[in-house]
Amino acid sequence: MGISDRIDAAVEQAIRQGQGGRAPTKLASALHYAVTPGGARIRPTILMSVAMACGDDRPRLSEAAAAALEVIHCASLVHDDMPCFDDADMRRGKPALHRAYSEPLAVLSGDSLIVMGFQILARAAGDKPDRALKLIEILGDRTGMPFGICAGQGWESEQHIDLSAYHQAKTGALFIAATQMGAAAAGQDHEPWEELGARIGEAFQVADDLRDALCDEATLGKPAGQDDLHGRPNAVRQLGVRGAVQRLDDILAGAISSIPKCPGEAALAQIVRAYADRLVPAAARQMPTVPGE
Ligand code: IPE
Ligand code: IPE
Ligand code: MG
Ligand code: MG
Repeated sequence: MGISDRIDAAVEQAIRQGQGGRAPTKLASALHYAVTPGGARIRPTILMSVAMACGDDRPRLSEAAAAALEVIHCASLVHDDMPCFDDADMRRGKPALHRAYSEPLAVLSGDSLIVMGFQILARAAGDKPDRALKLIEILGDRTGMPFGICAGQGWESEQHIDLSAYHQAKTGALFIAATQMGAAAAGQDHEPWEELGARIGEAFQVADDLRDALCDEATLGKPAGQDDLHGRPNAVRQLGVRGAVQRLDDILAGAISSIPKCPGEAALAQIVRAYADRLVPAAARQMPTVPGE
């Protein structure tokens, strides 16, 4: 089975468990709606790639870690689209969950998925409870306060935003979780993997700014032009399209050189390179250097 099938199977299994017993039917259905069809599944893909580069000697545990990370990411999107945050009607090409179901069910779906992330890890401990505990700790740190995605969203309620802390927490946190959890699931020290996750997260943020500026809603499957609309600081406004593409390439080159020594180092570098090509919208690479060129 390839990485993406392994991730999908693990996510599906977790959702089915959440829907069992005498579960309320609308909330049970909303859980499935929140995770399928998936988006790019980029975080769990990075997690699995790192686990494989480190030997992946407990595949059930790395699959559980990937599913745990993805359901928490999906929860963050459900909450992020709600009227009290970005008030977005579309997500992944279909109505946002609070539109398709209701606001109470969106709050509860997000809550249930966040809890589910930790349930998945606790259940997957098997003969490696020490690894499962470490995975729970990493995921908790990168989800909550003060470094996680909650902190990231929290910055939007401050009058003065620390831009670097905001981006690191909002976007970088789950990429750091991805690389560190991949290593921890395979029994390796997670600490040396922080830099790779942080750099990929930074590159992702620049790519997201490019997509937001250059793609339309149909391509994105969610509202476009949001950064300009909400007056958010972003890489395209700061550097122009060409500058932002250059910046992204530089960050990813740094990411590759930060990969810690491991058996699958070369293969992982290859994956990060391929990821770079997918990240940049084709339109951005075709932009002339000088306007009118
Ligand atoms: C969107 O993340 C949220 C941000 C942090 C910008 P993705 O672009 O990875 O969303 P999906 O999972 O592919 O839909
Ligand atoms: C979403 O960020 C990030 C989290 C939910 C943690 P954005 O609001 O910038 O992302 P999109 O554009 O809605 O996907
Ligand atoms: Mg938002
Ligand atoms: Mg949003």
